[in-house]
Amino acid sequence: MARDKASYLGREQAFVKHYLLETYLERLFQITASRFDQIVYVDGYSGPWQSQGQSLEDTSFCIALSALRKAKSFQAARGKAIQVHAHLVEKSPRAYRLLETITPKFPDVRISTYKADFRSQSKAIAAQIPEGAFTFVLIDPKGWRINTAELAPLLRRKNCEVLFNFMFDFVNRAASMTEAPTVAGINELIPGGEWREQLAALTATGATPAERKQILIGAFSQGLADIGNFKFVAETPVLRPLHDRVLYSLIFATKKARGLEVFRDCQLLALTEQSKIRGEAKLRDISTKANQFEMFGSVTEMAPDDTLLDLPAEIRRAEATLMSLIPLTPDSVAYGDVWPQVLASHVVRRMHVGQMAAQMRTKGQLRFEGWPPRKRTPDDEYRVSRI
Ligand SMILES: C[S@@+](CC[C@H](N)C(=O)[O-])C[C@H]1O[C@@H](n2cnc3c(N)ncnc32)[C@H](O)[C@@H]1O
Repeated sequence: MARDKASYLGREQAFVKHYLLETYLERLFQITASRFDQIVYVDGYSGPWQSQGQSLEDTSFCIALSALRKAKSFQAARGKAIQVHAHLVEKSPRAYRLLETITPKFPDVRISTYKADFRSQSKAIAAQIPEGAFTFVLIDPKGWRINTAELAPLLRRKNCEVLFNFMFDFVNRAASMTEAPTVAGINELIPGGEWREQLAALTATGATPAERKQILIGAFSQGLADIGNFKFVAETPVLRPLHDRVLYSLIFATKKARGLEVFRDCQLLALTEQSKIRGEAKLRDISTKANQFEMFGSVTEMAPDDTLLDLPAEIRRAEATLMSLIPLTPDSVAYGDVWPQVLASHVVRRMHVGQMAAQMRTKGQLRFEGWPPRKRTPDDEYRVSRI
């Protein structure tokens, strides 16, 4: 997969979103196509929006349709016929006219388009999805006026995942406003929880932006988990290209540990891409301002921006969490119950948790039952205890 960065100049945040979506959906649909007979993709705010691609390839719906097509043809080559269906909703008549042009390009995917407000359609779309289908929902609005509870019919389905673009920068500002419609709107987006009280208490003592973000994202994630009955929620912050400020947060929710596992793999790749593309954008900006165009070609290659994730530090924090989840011998726990909880709290891969568990075993800190010789990382059924 090689997304064309040139069509994202000045909107590098969309590159990060599309990179994550493409990387994850390709793997997700590949995996689910082998287990399910029907896969459904719902794009509530389809666009196209600021698309530069000739064939709309830089849009969320095109990325999803291509991934559906790949999974379907992969299965077909192995003798399994699966049905793939995309529900694409777009309110703007102008964007909708472009959206409609996609249908003939994907004759192998059943596509239903709606020129409508997603908020009035989500229930009707949910009712159309067959019981046994796997569903992935993308909610990528321009703003934040969504009543999250109204998404319940769609998100509560048994086999369903969602990626929700939480417009953090706007929500953060709106969360401090006192006008009644704004207060009511934000309460619908982030239902329940004590986040207003927590924010007020922090503001009184001088909240840092990171603390405000933790409260808002934490409350929204919990609300989403409650409404959709999701077991795991993971946040990917997407920063403004030229400023070290979060523009939006892509909130992923799944009911399965395997979903979280695959998502973390893709998220780490996306965060690396984000570092690269922001570094390039910043250097491009500097060289444009300095009018040093001749410098530009050479510097864009070597400019990762490292403001995003300190992986070694995250792994150290994950190690502490892993230890805290394992009981002292003679009590024990199945390893398969532990690693998903570590992934739920930290941006690390399952592979990292397996490696840290193996090291702790070698150091004599952990005891595993059922670990055979030459096995490098633990299986889910091994029981583990702290020594
Ligand atoms: C951020 S863009 C979506 C971009 C797209 N998901 C992508 O990544 O390529 C949001 C889109 O939602 C549309 N929109 C805004 N409000 C809507 C609503 N209530 N229902 C459906 N579409 C809406 C806008 O016209 C715009 O095209």
